[in-house]
Amino acid sequence: MPTTFGDLLLAPEAMSTTTAYLQRQKFLPVPLHTLCVTGELPVDIYLCQGRDDAPVLFRRRNIEIPPDEFPKLLESGIETVFISRDHVEVYQQHLEDNVAVIIANESLPLERRLQFLGDTGRSILHEVFQADQLDQTLEAVDDLSNHMVELFAGNEVAVSDLFSVLRHDYHTYTHSYNVASYAMLLGKELGFSSDEKLRSLSVGGLLHDLGKLKIPRTILNKKGRLDNQDWDIIRRHPFDGFVALVNRPEVSRDQLMMVYQHHERIDGSGYPVGLIGDEIHPFARICSVVDVFDALTSSRPYRTANTTNEALETLDRLANDKLDAEMVQCWKALMKKPS
Ligand SMILES: [Fe+2]
Ligand SMILES: [Fe+2]
Repeated sequence: MPTTFGDLLLAPEAMSTTTAYLQRQKFLPVPLHTLCVTGELPVDIYLCQGRDDAPVLFRRRNIEIPPDEFPKLLESGIETVFISRDHVEVYQQHLEDNVAVIIANESLPLERRLQFLGDTGRSILHEVFQADQLDQTLEAVDDLSNHMVELFAGNEVAVSDLFSVLRHDYHTYTHSYNVASYAMLLGKELGFSSDEKLRSLSVGGLLHDLGKLKIPRTILNKKGRLDNQDWDIIRRHPFDGFVALVNRPEVSRDQLMMVYQHHERIDGSGYPVGLIGDEIHPFARICSVVDVFDALTSSRPYRTANTTNEALETLDRLANDKLDAEMVQCWKALMKKPS
């Protein structure tokens, strides 16, 4: 099995010696730009000379790092460094502590800030989805959405730039972050551009597959065809998410409808209810378009990812009968817009 963090993969077959491989198992690869903050870092930083080498210590923790050191490394083409797996929690705390400062730093290119927020968002969602504690999840989603609104409302984010910095691995935490960020961009283009609406699109996107946390991994990661029994279980997730959230006062109706109705389809063939056309909440229709797009452009246990053009062609075929045609056209235009 490869070692994963998001989809940063260290494929064992790519490592020529067992010693270097075993050494690497003790380390977590992290994107270097997530460490580009001023002051001291709470983790030791390791570098790898070559793809097959074991990591070597580069900078000890809690020692002031010169401000230009990591930017210089980035310029030299080093994008990934390593930290000890014993420091994962400290690293995640570092991400959370620094996210507000980094996304507000206009001297950093927007792409880097998008990447930082994406890495942080996935890391936070991974943690809270694993813990499966609703209070903790809602609190984390609330914080993350505030950061997303700040970055997405305050900047002209091109969908193609966003696509290039996101991961496409279809872990539920990756998929949820992607859907939330795409939903904000599509919603903004459709005129839902107030901070309040963007926040709802973000929260609803982050929570839309909450009910999937109840689905056994054996079904989610199944390589072969799913049987009817598997599908019955999978189709319960919008309802399970709705039941978990319906009595939570902090979850608005707009957000709840994204959770409950994102698998409804325009012609009534969706689930859980079989609503038709405008009976489906507009935010749920937005969610459906970007949910299908992200599913198509992510690699799955049983297939590789579609290209963006292939995915857009599929969306085109689904427009009118299954997905809102105007929203599909709008998403296609956004995807094709140059950055
Ligand atoms: Fe879903
Ligand atoms: Fe989904």
